[in-house]
Amino acid sequence: MKIAFFDTKPYDKPSFDKFGAEFGVKFKYFETKLNEDTVDLANGYDGVCVFVNDTVNAAVIDRLCEMGVKVVALRCAGFNNVDMKHAFGRIHVLRVPAYSPYAVAEHAMAMLLTSIRRIHKAYIRTRDFNFSLAGMTGFDLHGKTVGVIGTGRIGQVFIQICRGFGMRVLAYDKYQTPGLDNGDTVKYVSLEELFAASDIISLHCPLTEETYHIIDENSLSKCKHGVVILNTSRGALVDAEALLTGIKTRKVGAACLDVYEEESELFFEDFSGHILEDDTLARLISMPNVIVTSHQAFLTEEALSNIAETTVKNIVGFFETNQCPNELCYRCGNAEDCKSGKCF
Ligand code: NAI
Repeated sequence: MKIAFFDTKPYDKPSFDKFGAEFGVKFKYFETKLNEDTVDLANGYDGVCVFVNDTVNAAVIDRLCEMGVKVVALRCAGFNNVDMKHAFGRIHVLRVPAYSPYAVAEHAMAMLLTSIRRIHKAYIRTRDFNFSLAGMTGFDLHGKTVGVIGTGRIGQVFIQICRGFGMRVLAYDKYQTPGLDNGDTVKYVSLEELFAASDIISLHCPLTEETYHIIDENSLSKCKHGVVILNTSRGALVDAEALLTGIKTRKVGAACLDVYEEESELFFEDFSGHILEDDTLARLISMPNVIVTSHQAFLTEEALSNIAETTVKNIVGFFETNQCPNELCYRCGNAEDCKSGKCF
């Protein structure tokens, strides 16, 4: 099996080489992202392996099909960059539904603690032998209320971590997890209640039409003064302009962003010698109470190994047995349901 691997980063290769060699999958690594201009690089390959900022739109899918490429193997969980409706019946799309919910949830907490205890400031100050504490006052997490939107794998781990800090959890999900609400320290509430009562809001839902800009001017107006916004999920869950206004008006006390709506041309690359064209991102980064990381929440050794192992097994399963439990349907997110016709 020959797979064209797009948007390759140095940290991808060791684990994909290891599991590829073990299971007989040969990867050709391309640094470029997959899009309409680069899709022809996949000519002669059985499949493509793509990440969050590759573009798998209708034109790319049609060209892949013309070239006889059978499968799109996502090496991530989210699939908002794939036109699933167009893919259905044309090309098979496989993904890695879970690789380490701990990696993302722990990163979310790392960002929160960094922000509210001003660790990012302290690190720079003490390196300059500035041992002043002026402006470093934080607040306790213990006893605070955290609103968690999306209580799937990552959301649930984040809730456990927050409970370890003695926080009260208000949760919102379109599909509630039975047994999570204990009627006391963890409660499912409406979005309205979550916005009104949370000191901190953390996003752990997927990006869909319904969740697009779930944090916008309207929702921020319902939040507590000084609310802290955490987004480790997908950039477009937050209207960045509205967030910036919220920061300027002091409505938002702090923001921790591992993802950004317009990240695809920026994140994962070094632009340190360039003029940043995105004024909103530049302004957000300039704020003392905003922390931005470039979609690195997943980046742990454990997650990288799990991603490579599952992706390789997905590909092998698909080509050798024509079965892959991680194949996606555009409606239900699961191929099994499609085959049974349940989602039509
Ligand atoms: P999951 O599928 O286990 O959980 C997602 C939850 O969101 C589910 O409980 C689902 O019912 C809920 N949900 C769906 N629609 C909703 C809506 N309209 N409103 C509220 N909740 C809704 O997914 P998992 O593994 O927990 O991942 C969550 C998100 O984290 C992914 O969608 C992805 O965007 C993001 N992610 C970010 C990474 C990073 O490196 N920053 C790495 C991995 C995932």
